[in-house]
Amino acid sequence: MENEPPVHTRLRRPVAKAFSRGHVERLRPRVQELATELLDRAGERFDVVGDFAEPLPVLVISELLGVPSSHADELRDWSQAIVKMYEPNRSQERVDAAVRAATDFAALVRDFIRSRRAKPADDLISDLAATELSEDEMVAAAVLLLNAGHEASVNVFGNGLVSMFRAGARPGADKAACVEEMLRFDSALQLFERTATEPVTVGGIEVAEGEKIAVLLGSANRDGAVFERPDEFLPERAENPHVAFGVGVHFCLGAPLARMELTESLTTLFDRHPELELDGEPESRGTFVLRGYHSVPVRSAR
Ligand code: HEM
Repeated sequence: MENEPPVHTRLRRPVAKAFSRGHVERLRPRVQELATELLDRAGERFDVVGDFAEPLPVLVISELLGVPSSHADELRDWSQAIVKMYEPNRSQERVDAAVRAATDFAALVRDFIRSRRAKPADDLISDLAATELSEDEMVAAAVLLLNAGHEASVNVFGNGLVSMFRAGARPGADKAACVEEMLRFDSALQLFERTATEPVTVGGIEVAEGEKIAVLLGSANRDGAVFERPDEFLPERAENPHVAFGVGVHFCLGAPLARMELTESLTTLFDRHPELELDGEPESRGTFVLRGYHSVPVRSAR
């Protein structure tokens, strides 16, 4: 994510190739199965983030890469510590925790890569291990996938559901359209930075080479010049050219996986609980760049 072409092109190409090898579609039935299991355990009143939206993508991305589910809690904790580095006003304590998490995370992934190089399996770490990347680059790619592969999905689901409930809306027959509106309406990734690789003028402002600008994706997703009724949550919105997955060379590598996962999660949840509703105040994470809820209490009103 931090690299620009030509380094970025060299790093992204093999990862994208490994990623597009049919792994996403292969996982669809498994996502449905995991979603059903989590809902079986959750009962009729539950925290839809903590009990459902959070564990599901962690399990999915771990399985995709070939990391046993026994590491799921660890992955989630490391990932949470690392993404705090994206927020403004980082304390030294947070920085230390992120460095510790990244070190432990990388050590685990390095072991997996070494073992898959010796004995390949049918998983993404084996595919990565077979690329021309160096071992450090493979470790970085796997850590990025494990991290990016669930962090935003959790918040898209939580933010989207809360927005939908507050708008008095329900998913329509077209669940994929509803997922696009969940991605747009209350963006889980509010802000990303871009580095100018050469001097450029943006909106009348000159940006020197090496300088950064912040791109407010959340704001762009409410642009009245692009979206009709931008501040309304419309689960069946027909035209939805949101930028929740970014644009350009850094466009989200996991967008097909995220879309499949969110669509299956939403379908399974509302098939089981068609009358689902909020059961108290959602609790915000209090973060700005990666915006989301810790917990969203819900109940089945049937
Ligand atoms: C709903 C969930 C997701 C959202 C909203 C999201 C959003 C984004 C955004 C906005 C970027 C662009 C960052 C930039 O402009 O610098 C990005 C990049 C990326 N995403 Fe996602 N993402 C999601 C899920 C996933 C998943 C499931 C994966 C992988 C399994 C993933 C992997 C990546 C990677 C590897 C990049 C870096 C691409 C690059 O720099 O070339 N994301 N994502």
